[in-house]
Order: sequence, then structure tokens, then C-alpha cells
Amino acid sequence: MRYFFYKPKKKKILKRLKVFLSKVGGTDVKISHEHKGYVWLNFEEARSCIRHKNMRDMLDIANEYAHRYERINALNNEYRKISSTKNWDLSKRLVPGEGPLDSGIMVIGQAPGKNEDQDLKPFIGRSGNLLTGMLAKAGLDRKKLYITSVVQFFPPKNRLPTRSEVDVCRPFIKKQIEILKPKFIILLGNIASMTLLGIGSVEKNHGRCIRKDDTEYMITFHPAAILRFKDKAPLMLGDLKKFSDIINKHKN
Ligand code: URA
Repeated sequence: MRYFFYKPKKKKILKRLKVFLSKVGGTDVKISHEHKGYVWLNFEEARSCIRHKNMRDMLDIANEYAHRYERINALNNEYRKISSTKNWDLSKRLVPGEGPLDSGIMVIGQAPGKNEDQDLKPFIGRSGNLLTGMLAKAGLDRKKLYITSVVQFFPPKNRLPTRSEVDVCRPFIKKQIEILKPKFIILLGNIASMTLLGIGSVEKNHGRCIRKDDTEYMITFHPAAILRFKDKAPLMLGDLKKFSDIINKHKN
């Protein structure tokens, strides 16, 4: 955060404030002896001590981030547990979503592949490289987006997730959306589009933007489809550029 500090009768001074969030294991926090006069406060107490509104706003943003972090972690722990149900045919290793929890933009794919299952990170294989490159060409930096999939367990032999697997995973992707409250969601491929909007045939519907629950959903191809049908690459890039323009207009 940047703000100006006005010294009486002196020039204004630009201050930059960075808030670092860290997690503590317990509640017994000791403040080291050189920090005389410092006290450990809970959030509400700390907030009430701050006189400047912009500082309070900064603390609220940090608090909201910490809250989302806790909720996403709890959700992932719950999600991991469903892999121990009977007749589970997917990998038992959850590939969690990745990216800043306050991104405002989510990208949702279908299901992890073998590489993702090994490293437990979404979109790091060939599809992932293609996606990262396409996003960059459209002016979207992957590191600033939250990336996840409808099904977050690798389907063996890279098969499509079944309808019942999607049904089991649907509440978890919906809950992620509820926690992260993105303004924009880019849906990659039929499974993502069908699961979250009930709209199939990306071939016909790519490039469409649909507003639902205060979020702008955008439909495009899955990068794995582009690896197979290279002639579709300009279409996906065109969609992403269109979405990127809409996102930028919203920022300005
Ligand atoms: N394809 C997906 O849909 N998700 C991943 O995480 C990787 C590849």
C-alpha cells in the first residue's frame, strides 16, 4: 500500500507499507525483549487501535486473505477425505488449486494429468505450458490467476472423469468459487462449462460471456483440445484476448 504522510510545514512524504501474513502454530506468542512497548493483539483489538482509515483498510484486506486461506485449506482437507470412499477409481492425491486467493480471476479446467498428479500442482504438463503461453499472449499473467479444475484427482490413463465423479466433485469447485468470490471465471472445455453453467459444446459456445451470481463466466477450449486440433489455437487465443479486454475495462 502507498500513502502520503504530511509532516507539519514540511513536504509530504511517500510511505510504502507491506503487510506480511504468517501463520502461528499456537496462541502463546512471545515478543522478543528488544521490542519494548509492543503487545500481541487479536485482530479486533489491533483494528480498533488504528486511527488512519487506509491503514485499517489494509488490515481488513489482510484479514480477509487470512480467512480465505483458512477456509480453502479446510475445504482441501475435506476434499482429500472423499478419496477414501469405496470404489474410488481416481488418484487418491488431491491437486489443490494454485494462485493468489484475492486474484479476482479463476481459471477452471477439467481434471489433472499425470504430471500434475506427481507434483500436486495444476496445469504443469503440456496443456499447462500451452495455457500459460496463451494467457501471456492475451496479456494475462498466470501467476496472478487462481487455477484449478472441476475434478482435482487424476483420472487413471488420462481418461475423462465420469459423470458420477463430476457429481462428487461439483460441490467442492462450487465451494471454492464461494470462498474466493472471483469477478471472472474462465472455463476451459466442455466439462467445466457443463458443470458450472450447464452449457455444453464449447465448439459452438466458445467466446461467450455469461453473468451468473455476480460473476462473469467466460467459455473457451481446453488446452488439451488445442494440442490435438492445432487449427483451433487462434480461436482460443481470440477468446482469451476478448476476455482479457473485458477484465481490463473492469479494472480501469
Ligand atoms: N488439465 C486440467 O484440466 N487440469 C489440470 O490441472 C491439468 C490439465
